Amino acid sequence: GLTRFYDFKVQTTGITKLCKSKQIITINGKFPGPVITANEDDRIIVKVTNETPQNATIHWHGVMQRLTCWADGPVYVTQCPIRPGETYTYEFTMVGQRGTFFWHAHVSWLRATVHGALVVYPKRGVPYPFPHPYEEHILVLGEYFFRNAVKLERAVLASGGGAPRADAYIINAHPGPRYNCSATDVETIDVVPGKTYLLRLINAGLNNELFFSIANHKLTIVESDAEYTKPFTPERLMIAPGQTINVLVKADQPIGKYEMAVGPYMSAQNVPFQNISAVAHFQYSGASLTSLSQPAQLPAFNDNLAVKSHMDGLRSLNATYLPLEIDSNLFFTIGLNENQCNRKNPNRTCQAPNRGIFAAAMNNISFVRPSLSLLQAYYYDIQGYYTPNFPKKPLKIYDFVYGAPNNAPIDTSAMKGTKVTVLEFGTKVQLVLQDTGTITTENHPMHLHGYSFYVVGYGTGNYNPLNAKLNLVDPPYMNTFGVPVGGWAAIRFVANNPGVWFLHCHLDLHLSWGFSMAFIVKNGEGPLETLPHPPADLPKC
Ligand code: C2O
Repeated sequence: GLTRFYDFKVQTTGITKLCKSKQIITINGKFPGPVITANEDDRIIVKVTNETPQNATIHWHGVMQRLTCWADGPVYVTQCPIRPGETYTYEFTMVGQRGTFFWHAHVSWLRATVHGALVVYPKRGVPYPFPHPYEEHILVLGEYFFRNAVKLERAVLASGGGAPRADAYIINAHPGPRYNCSATDVETIDVVPGKTYLLRLINAGLNNELFFSIANHKLTIVESDAEYTKPFTPERLMIAPGQTINVLVKADQPIGKYEMAVGPYMSAQNVPFQNISAVAHFQYSGASLTSLSQPAQLPAFNDNLAVKSHMDGLRSLNATYLPLEIDSNLFFTIGLNENQCNRKNPNRTCQAPNRGIFAAAMNNISFVRPSLSLLQAYYYDIQGYYTPNFPKKPLKIYDFVYGAPNNAPIDTSAMKGTKVTVLEFGTKVQLVLQDTGTITTENHPMHLHGYSFYVVGYGTGNYNPLNAKLNLVDPPYMNTFGVPVGGWAAIRFVANNPGVWFLHCHLDLHLSWGFSMAFIVKNGEGPLETLPHPPADLPKC
């Protein structure tokens, strides 16, 4: 493949939106940030210089980083932050991967504005496994806040409240005409009647899973998380933070202007949620510019069935790497807990990660970020930054009843820890993720770094090993999967990429609350199974 060079300057940039001006952190002054393009097997080199007063790192979401864990980017997991004035050059190869990816900051909530698309085309001369579209467009979906993202995180953690409501949803940074002061701040895709378009959807938002639809048009999914799927036309489409979806849309309707709309999916919310949808236009050539647009319909904010029908239809085109046998069976509860400090009961300990009402944990461990990256501590064998004893089962397993419809164990109290699971090279893993929670259950988009995983099963209620139905034929291959609210998902992967790999909820508030853990995958025997030395410019802590 070729080598693609990019120069990323992390900068403070002025922006005016919704009639308010503010400073945001961007790459090269752009919001969303610059698009990186490459072909499968190309090498990508990005020199990142931090010109802001804020710590930065960049994560290449969905890129497997084969033997390049040093370039993965999550702060204090694979690297120390790029401090103000420092530079770090990320280098990695798109080994056997193509599709829609995105890059984003992986420090605090900086990804709110520091994100952009990473589009990898097939190898030169190799066609898509579907009819070639007339044109392609990238739609980066996000949440816009008037407040500074880093201050917002601090304020929310200090106040102990839930996820802050975005001031607007945005499509390629445009809120669209339903917001005050935004009548002309609209993304528009001009289309030729009869042609087919490929839309590359990315949810770069912080805390909201999103529904997406286009008025009167069908969306055919052909790729999900940068993996080809059997073509599938769901009634409704949901995209979680961290996910990417490619859809084909045929401009087969009467000439006119059609809304593309984005609104929230909130599985945990049972009080009516008022929101304004972001709207963009799918506009036929020949449509009068002043014509009214056809309104797009979105599901109700809490339409769990809409999400299920999307998931139920997702199938890998080829499940080439699916392990049929398993070496390691893991079971992790995931979910939200009350901060025990807030309870009157004297037997409860005060172990949640912040002073607020909420905490989050996996197997009762609320992750505490170390002060040296896990990867550096592991690679140089420096003791004291983590312990390799992440539990194989929830600590309160006696409260957990397999197969019960009640998904909330009696006590899911969390303790703080920086614990990891160590996997031998080549381990075939099945991991069941079980949503729990003493406050609420919720659809959590779980993201694994360094791998894609097959989603071989999922369901509502508690996982039951005796009757869980698994798809071992054509399960979808994803890097971020929304574990159903109050339910479970079983994922499989082969641990054949050495390094330290973060597993976390891709809702940023939950990540701040400790909703994460990490796998250490040991080296194998051969040179292609061994993590090389770090680059010389790797930031120091
Ligand atoms: Cu897109 Cu760890 O994140």
